[in-house]
Amino acid sequence: MTNMAAVIHEKGAPDVFRWEEWPVGDPGPGEVLIRHGAIGVNMVDAYHRGGVPHPAKVPDLPTVIGLEGAGTVEALGEGVSEVQVGDRVAYIFGPHGAYSQSRLYPAERCYKLADEISFEQGAAMSLKGLTAWYLIRRVYAVQPGDVVLVHAASGGTGTFLCQWLNAIGAITVGTVSTPEKAEIARSNGCHHPVVRSEQSFVDVVKEVTDGKGVPVVYESIGKDTFLDSMDCLARFGIMACYGHSSGPPPDVNVVDLGRRGSVFVTRPGLNDYTYHREDILRGAADLMDAVTNHGVDIAINQRWPLREVAQAHAALESATTTGSTVLLPFE
Ligand SMILES: NC(=O)c1ccc[n+]([C@@H]2O[C@H](COP(=O)([O-])OP(=O)(O)OC[C@H]3O[C@@H](n4cnc5c(N)ncnc54)[C@H](OP(=O)(O)O)[C@@H]3O)[C@@H](O)[C@H]2O)c1
Repeated sequence: MTNMAAVIHEKGAPDVFRWEEWPVGDPGPGEVLIRHGAIGVNMVDAYHRGGVPHPAKVPDLPTVIGLEGAGTVEALGEGVSEVQVGDRVAYIFGPHGAYSQSRLYPAERCYKLADEISFEQGAAMSLKGLTAWYLIRRVYAVQPGDVVLVHAASGGTGTFLCQWLNAIGAITVGTVSTPEKAEIARSNGCHHPVVRSEQSFVDVVKEVTDGKGVPVVYESIGKDTFLDSMDCLARFGIMACYGHSSGPPPDVNVVDLGRRGSVFVTRPGLNDYTYHREDILRGAADLMDAVTNHGVDIAINQRWPLREVAQAHAALESATTTGSTVLLPFE
């Protein structure tokens, strides 16, 4: 079987991807062969390709990156009991290699997709949706009536956060870069969209919370927003600095955390919050329940053939995408 993939031979700008034959082989012990129906695109992929500096390791070059996909299990390696041939599955993280028509992958990190969820939805929702899950269920357990701050509120993860927070009954202040994105955020359940160049999100948070601040900031922009985000925290508030799309944030002065009201700063990672199979299954069950029963909609706003992944990366890095982006491997 000929397998094609978007291969990188050097790190750099989006045009480093090359559409090439990439042999897959048979699954080893604990592995499955997955034929992709759709592949997810995430900001972290751009870091791995060679964009913003990031501590994550990338395999030796040439390589195939990508950490999110959905498809059909076509073959099992020795000892696999978690899934069967023919199962529809999705996955996040684990070894790189999603930007390929088919791939080998550890069975223990796969979860089965509910019948009503398509491959495109599975590829669009798994990484961003499970990130939203651990942020609002585990980093800070959001309660109805909480006011929270979400950055990049019309983006992939931001859209999930706004929708899910709204379903819980929380009030979201969400920042974006343009008035058009503010409308998209509003339509996804963000109560107070703020265009950062037009209005101070610190002022809006203070106004909405009567000066108290928020119990949690979901901070994904980093360098450009981090210090102002710190000014939004309530006493004991949590700064969940889960991404840095504009570049790494400044160093944190620990003594300053006390002065600000015994606040917490964490740099949470999906790989830790889904380290154990039970976590993946628990998170995926919650996510699929939110999608099928509680109105969390998967906004797939961009689709590209996998062979044109360079365009998807350029769009994501120039902040022109909204919601989720998927790649179609056989178009
Ligand atoms: N730690 C984890 O577990 C984890 C998991 C998933 C994602 N993440 C991180 O979460 C962030 C969001 O990921 P995503 O895939 O959902 O991306 P995304 O939000 O769809 O896209 C990034 C958004 O960041 C904003 N942004 C601000 N400054 C930017 C800049 N200089 N360059 C590009 N974008 C900029 C843009 O929104 P505006 O135009 O509205 O500003 C842009 O749309 C990323 O930093 C990612 O690495 C972390």
